[in-house]
Amino acid sequence: MKVIGISGSPTKESNTDALIKAILEATGAESEFIKLSEIKVGPCIACMKCVYTNECIINDDFKWLSRKVMDADAIIVGSPTYYGAASAFMKAFIERLYSKRHIKLLMRGKIAATVAVGVAAEKMVAEWMGNALRAGGMEIAGSLTAKGTPCCFVCGPGETCNYTVWNAYSKELTGMDFGVGEAYKEHLEILPDNKPYAHGSARFLKSYRSVKDEPQVMAEAKRIGTLIRERIESSNRKAGNLDCGC
Ligand SMILES: Cc1cc2nc3c(=O)[nH]c(=O)nc-3n(C[C@H](O)[C@H](O)[C@H](O)COP(=O)(O)O)c2cc1C
Repeated sequence: MKVIGISGSPTKESNTDALIKAILEATGAESEFIKLSEIKVGPCIACMKCVYTNECIINDDFKWLSRKVMDADAIIVGSPTYYGAASAFMKAFIERLYSKRHIKLLMRGKIAATVAVGVAAEKMVAEWMGNALRAGGMEIAGSLTAKGTPCCFVCGPGETCNYTVWNAYSKELTGMDFGVGEAYKEHLEILPDNKPYAHGSARFLKSYRSVKDEPQVMAEAKRIGTLIRERIESSNRKAGNLDCGC
């Protein structure tokens, strides 16, 4: 039983990484963790050379990575939320999976799970990754979203910057309530004179948010990992029954 985890987060030891690793561990399977920012996987160039071969002609690390993905019983893909979308690393990787779709739908039935970490829009990322993998024929066994550390906590001028992520996703600016203030109430006090994109005013109570401190999130990672294991065992049993004709 082999499971591979692929992270689109470029941050070292990130929350995305932690959740992918927790799911991998809970599968109890032989596993491998790959960080896309440490290898080279560029975007699809729409050359359509893969249509009849299901092989991408671009000469980069997707060549070996795609073989690992094909060989795995399940894959866990995770991304941080950047501009309301998956990171460019994850977007490029998923675009390249296009080569495995044509005519044969080579990933049909492969078990997958998604992880999305963000401040406000992580659910949109989870939905997009799930839809993209489903379009490639994969079965989504679980989808985990979590709140991470806003970069504005660690960048330096976050307490006084006008354009912080909580201001960008404020009800005042977007007309929608992304619940950022509520989600970060233990980490962040948005002060009364804060005015999105006009006057930044906040106080940091805690400057890092780790998913490892959130028992519910970690328990969900464990549940998804266990579920993946059960799904692999069940599909292996079915395949075994077919083999022996019983
Ligand atoms: C370039 C960039 C753009 C970002 N845009 C958003 C965004 O649109 N929505 C959001 O919820 N978070 C946004 N963030 C914040 C990250 O999603 C957040 O820091 C997350 O915790 C990163 O996860 P990681 O630490 O697992 O990599 C952005 C961060 C960066 C670096």
